[in-house]
Amino acid sequence: MPSHTFQPSAPLTGRLRVPGDKSISHRALMFAGLAVGQSRITGLLEGEDVLATAAAMRQLGARIERSEDGTWIVDGAGVGSLLEPKQALDMGNSGTSTRLMMGLLASHAISATFIGDASLSGRPMNRVIDPLSQMGATFEASPGGTLPCMLRGASPAVPITYRLPVASAQVKSAVLLAGLNTPGITRVIEPAPTRDHTERMLTGFGAKLEVTEDNGERVIAIHGEADLKPMDVVVPGDPSSAAFFIVAASIVPGSDLVIENVGLNPTRAGIVTVLRQMGADIEELSPREVGGEPVADLRVRHARLKGVDVDPAIVPSMVDEFPVLFVAAALAEGTTRTTGLEELRVKESDRISVMAEALTLAGARVEEQEDGLTIHGTGGEPLHGTPDSASVATRLDHRIAMSMAVSGLVSRDGVRLDDIAPIATSFPSFIDLLENATS
Ligand code: S3P
Repeated sequence: MPSHTFQPSAPLTGRLRVPGDKSISHRALMFAGLAVGQSRITGLLEGEDVLATAAAMRQLGARIERSEDGTWIVDGAGVGSLLEPKQALDMGNSGTSTRLMMGLLASHAISATFIGDASLSGRPMNRVIDPLSQMGATFEASPGGTLPCMLRGASPAVPITYRLPVASAQVKSAVLLAGLNTPGITRVIEPAPTRDHTERMLTGFGAKLEVTEDNGERVIAIHGEADLKPMDVVVPGDPSSAAFFIVAASIVPGSDLVIENVGLNPTRAGIVTVLRQMGADIEELSPREVGGEPVADLRVRHARLKGVDVDPAIVPSMVDEFPVLFVAAALAEGTTRTTGLEELRVKESDRISVMAEALTLAGARVEEQEDGLTIHGTGGEPLHGTPDSASVATRLDHRIAMSMAVSGLVSRDGVRLDDIAPIATSFPSFIDLLENATS
């Protein structure tokens, strides 16, 4: 458990490039692994979560290699031709790998056991087990619908129409991926739009997929027994990783930082909208398209932030960015109220209570509700935690670790984290980039 203290910092300046998008990286490996032929992926995030997906796809019969220039070369096994893994699939900390992979396997005539770390083993899997069982797969999960979990796929599986009970791109994607090897048309009805990387990228790989609107809800239909053709994927930078630097540059006085190559898919960019409502100074430079996704370089300058009431309708487009938004709110002038965040309680950690505890330790004024936090900001004054306070517990959650690292930059005496190892799941170069930007 490597601990680390993040000290009050000099302004963030210069330029940096965040690594590839985690959601898009997982999907690129999975879809390339299902195509017939060779795909090439550049800009892939080489974090532990994505490497868990690569390892699992290899166990299922895809050939995946990294060439010296950093391009990943994938020879797919073909939809319907995945192999039964000889060992358990170890998903590490990664909920996305687990849930999407359960979808993939649910319509193949094979069995597999999914295992993960202590964080992942506490997370709910019934949200994918339910629809995938309706399609014919069977599961033996641990109590409460958790890992370790054994899956027996069905072939042929049964196409369903499934209305998502929670706004979850992982559940949507699991059902659509199961639909790839299911005869007929599988449909997902999405009451609130969630990240649409699966839809965009599957279309690129040649799947027949239609998105329509019905009574204000998105309906996504995938035609089964698909043949995917290989393609070259360029992965844009991850807005969820960029968010730590957007907030850091916004709250550390004197900062003027350019973050290059940030994906700004509207289903992901809620953090930029909310920070701008708070008064952040974020300029989009050279807007362009990378790999079918909107991208820009972001110039972020320090600004005096004001507290806001965050509209719960924006939650799905920034679901992973609340921990770092809470840090921005802790430095803003006035009160920030967030609601509709129930889903945060079942992420890598319970991000509502873990952030409430961590920020309080760091000296912020925070009130916890069932579905969100209310935060009374310092108006720009550094956070002043209790002297000799214990370390912040990061609880196997990379986004807690990086958010609290950012809080250390605007503290009086630094913020100590008990364990920074989780950062490697999504952003292995985080500390190096932070040190460069502040030196
Ligand atoms: C993800 C979807 C989100 C997000 C996760 C990645 C994805 O989860 O929190 O980090 O790649 O589909 P939910 O869909 O469960 O909200």
